[in-house]
Amino acid sequence: MTRTYIRDFHGDDLDQIVRLWGQVTRENEWPIYSLAEVIASCQQDHAVVAVQGELLVGAAVGRGAHAQGWIVFFGTIDDAGSEVSSSLLHALERKMAPLGLAKLSVLIPEAEGLGAFTENGFHVHHSVRYLERAMPIQRREIDALKEVGGRILPPHLWDRVAGMTHEKTLLEERLVTPLARPELAERFGVVPPRAVMLFGPPGTGKTTFARAVASRLDWPFVELFPSRLADGGSGLAGGLRASFETIDELEHAVVFIDEVEEIASRRGGTPPSPTQGVTNELLKLVADFRDREG
Ligand SMILES: Nc1ncnc2c1ncn2[C@@H]1O[C@H](COP(=O)(O)OP(=O)(O)O)[C@@H](O)[C@H]1O
Ligand SMILES: [Mg+2]
Repeated sequence: MTRTYIRDFHGDDLDQIVRLWGQVTRENEWPIYSLAEVIASCQQDHAVVAVQGELLVGAAVGRGAHAQGWIVFFGTIDDAGSEVSSSLLHALERKMAPLGLAKLSVLIPEAEGLGAFTENGFHVHHSVRYLERAMPIQRREIDALKEVGGRILPPHLWDRVAGMTHEKTLLEERLVTPLARPELAERFGVVPPRAVMLFGPPGTGKTTFARAVASRLDWPFVELFPSRLADGGSGLAGGLRASFETIDELEHAVVFIDEVEEIASRRGGTPPSPTQGVTNELLKLVADFRDREG
């Protein structure tokens, strides 16, 4: 049998790390650290590998976070043997020693054996559970969101809408649930409306409802103000078009146009009203918007 060596990670190991990650995480379908995180740590943090000849048979990848270090990936091929696991852990620990960490932590699936870890001095905490929240805004969306002045609203706004049970049930069944759970909507053949008109005298809860829907979906809330739309220099219609182009870069959004009758009035009349072009533009934009998933 070829001897196993432990050495530092090199850029050339990346292909094999990706393959190993695929093998190790297959049964554990919900890896805590994504492949992108593992690769980032291989390149920027600390990684050691076990190799037999050309073949990579194991890897241990860690990152420091102030005084605490985290192992973001640890895996060996099935027949690598427990000695390889133990040597990898030891090598990673040595590599991270200069950071002066107070402790090194690792999260592993419940079903996985603890052997190599406990043998290397890791202590098991039985009383913890792992939680995570998927961030409603991804990094690539930050600029677009800022540009249109969108934001994530606090949770529970939906629960705070008092009374109006008929309207709440209607929106819940027809809008919120189908948007929040598209796979369920598809199964039952429900096509969610993607544009909703809220109407009523001032103070009847239109803005409150729009915000509540965004909060409920955990989607960013983008409010378009007529005054700001006209600022761009290309007029209201141009401002609308530019805003919707930016909104298009967001995965999801609840776009709220308050006092819409101010910018988009009824069409027709002689002579045509000066905002007729804006109404036309808005109708076109809303139609395109409907074709989009989020
Ligand atoms: N169903 C409701 N439950 C709780 N507060 C409400 C409700 N409807 C309206 N409000 C409150 O009344 C005020 C006016 O509501 P708002 O949503 O701004 O009305 P609109 O946009 O129709 O003019 C807000 O302070 C809002 O919090
Ligand atoms: Mg309002």
